[in-house]
Amino acid sequence: MSRISLLLLLTLTTGLCRATGMEDSTRIHVIPEPVSIKEGSGSFILDNTTVIRMTNGNADLEKTASWLSDRLATGSGYTLAIGAGGSKQINLELVSAGSMNKEGYHLSVTSEAVTIKAATAAGVFYGIQTFLQLCPADVEGAVPGQVRPWSIPCAEIEDYPRFGWRGLMLDVSRHFFTKTEVERYIDEMARYKFNVCHLHLSDDNGWRIEIKSLPELTRVGAWRVSRTGRWQSYLPPLADEPSDAGGYYTQDDMKEIIAYAAARYITILPEIDVPAHSLALIASYPNLSCTQLPYPVNPGAPQPESQDNVLCVANDSVYLVLDKIFSEIAALFPCPYIHVGGDEADKKFWAADPKCQRLMQEQHLSSVDELQSYFVKRMEKMLQAKGKKLIGWDEILEGGLAPSATVMSWRGMKGGVAAAKMGHEVVMTPWDYTYLDLYQGDPSVEPPTYGKCRLTDCYTYDPVPDSVDPKLILGGQGNLWSESVPTFRHAEYMTWPRGLALAEVYWSPRNKRNFNDFLLRMEAQFPRLDAAQINYARSAFDVWAQPGFNKMNQLAVGLTSEVPGLDIYYTFDNTRPDNHSPKYTGTPLVFPKGAATLTVISYRNGKPIGERISLTKDDLTKRAREGHHIY
Ligand code: ACM
Repeated sequence: MSRISLLLLLTLTTGLCRATGMEDSTRIHVIPEPVSIKEGSGSFILDNTTVIRMTNGNADLEKTASWLSDRLATGSGYTLAIGAGGSKQINLELVSAGSMNKEGYHLSVTSEAVTIKAATAAGVFYGIQTFLQLCPADVEGAVPGQVRPWSIPCAEIEDYPRFGWRGLMLDVSRHFFTKTEVERYIDEMARYKFNVCHLHLSDDNGWRIEIKSLPELTRVGAWRVSRTGRWQSYLPPLADEPSDAGGYYTQDDMKEIIAYAAARYITILPEIDVPAHSLALIASYPNLSCTQLPYPVNPGAPQPESQDNVLCVANDSVYLVLDKIFSEIAALFPCPYIHVGGDEADKKFWAADPKCQRLMQEQHLSSVDELQSYFVKRMEKMLQAKGKKLIGWDEILEGGLAPSATVMSWRGMKGGVAAAKMGHEVVMTPWDYTYLDLYQGDPSVEPPTYGKCRLTDCYTYDPVPDSVDPKLILGGQGNLWSESVPTFRHAEYMTWPRGLALAEVYWSPRNKRNFNDFLLRMEAQFPRLDAAQINYARSAFDVWAQPGFNKMNQLAVGLTSEVPGLDIYYTFDNTRPDNHSPKYTGTPLVFPKGAATLTVISYRNGKPIGERISLTKDDLTKRAREGHHIY
């Protein structure tokens, strides 16, 4: 067989295997999937004689080169010199932009050299992330018994992102994450070429950023009473109970976070959520709400109907305070945007407030929605005066959108569509496809939250609806709200691997998206995440029960898993199922008389691969009634 036809056969079988999720014969598993990969034969051998060399370098490229040297040292133990010489090189080269995307890169691995060419240091950095995924998993942390030197498969990779805005949002208000944890999150994002880290810095449950001219925000607003258990079931603060849970970032801390992110080509987008979700601000300065009553910072207790967490939009003090806040935020954060929230304002307090009613008359506003629009337009002018652009949740459409606002569409995509049809820019974060706080596996085993968002949902969504000008869709995010995320380990569990799926949605070409192929590449990431001690969910391997009712109105339970081709075993007799138990054949199961519990487990190639899950008949019946599944 000629070399060409052998290559063709190899390419065809490789393509087929990767497309069907069957056998995986490729040596290259990159997430997000690059625009084009040509696998070669042979390998580059990385050892301690390898030198990192720069061509047309600048200050950013120098920092990136030393970042690479440090990163390789973590796993290989080799400290690679940066400079000339050496018989084997990793070349980092800035080339003239021409038609190249500013975040794009070309990566070539031959047996002689690794070469990454890009028009910007950011492009080189993304090329490096791809290169690191070609290295053995040991690159993520010294693994005992590792084989050195490392062998890196030869390839030619051409790559650039589909969208310029590829974000993850971390809610640091509901639960506070330390500076070190935020930096760790940034490191994890950088691996997968995200470039926006949106920090939700204020809410009812904590104010998280030092504002020097308003010291009460961090003296009072950053702290609440300590509670643990299930969010929304907590007791409100008791009399004389100390507020010792929480924390905040000093401006010096935040400067370090911003610089840390910038060295990884990630922009920190700050969010100060107003006019609602403002209880921590109101607890610090009680004259800012319509009722002007003193409230404590909410520790995660149900919010009383009478408690206004909404700023009074007819109160001049509100604008004086916000001007101080946004002056300091604008000076601190280099991001061209400031996120002003704008979501979920309960406008009943405005409707009942004489000052707000007077303002509506003066401004000829016919509804409280228009009052919100009045407020957001004032925010827009305030930010413009400080050289910043306004972005807000899609509620800022209500009552009329501020002229230059960018919309972050979270209540589905319709807000984004409406904004784009009016010529506004949009960042897509529809909750049912991108909310990383929602449960990702069978609700009986996942930590409880208010809704579901599976790996498949993240992977299969497309941020550009047919009906809009694609240029107006800047990109999108995954959003990790932290009501039910009390620890950083759990933040990681909720982020990965759904964050891998979203990385691919926002980076890779639409026509290269293939879920089965993604699953293979996702599994190849797991040993890397293990080596880096990053927590992640394996929920896609678990059984997911789909309870419903059959024609005889009996409870019937379908069993599936997101990863295809697994064997599912079950018992009804309270024993632990294994691969000698009855095997699920695809026909929904009916509980035998007297049985109260169904226990299931998934296997692959004769080995357990998912968690063992017990489901009670009562719980499944309740779910069947809610889900109306008909068998
Ligand atoms: C939101 O989820 N309330 C933006």
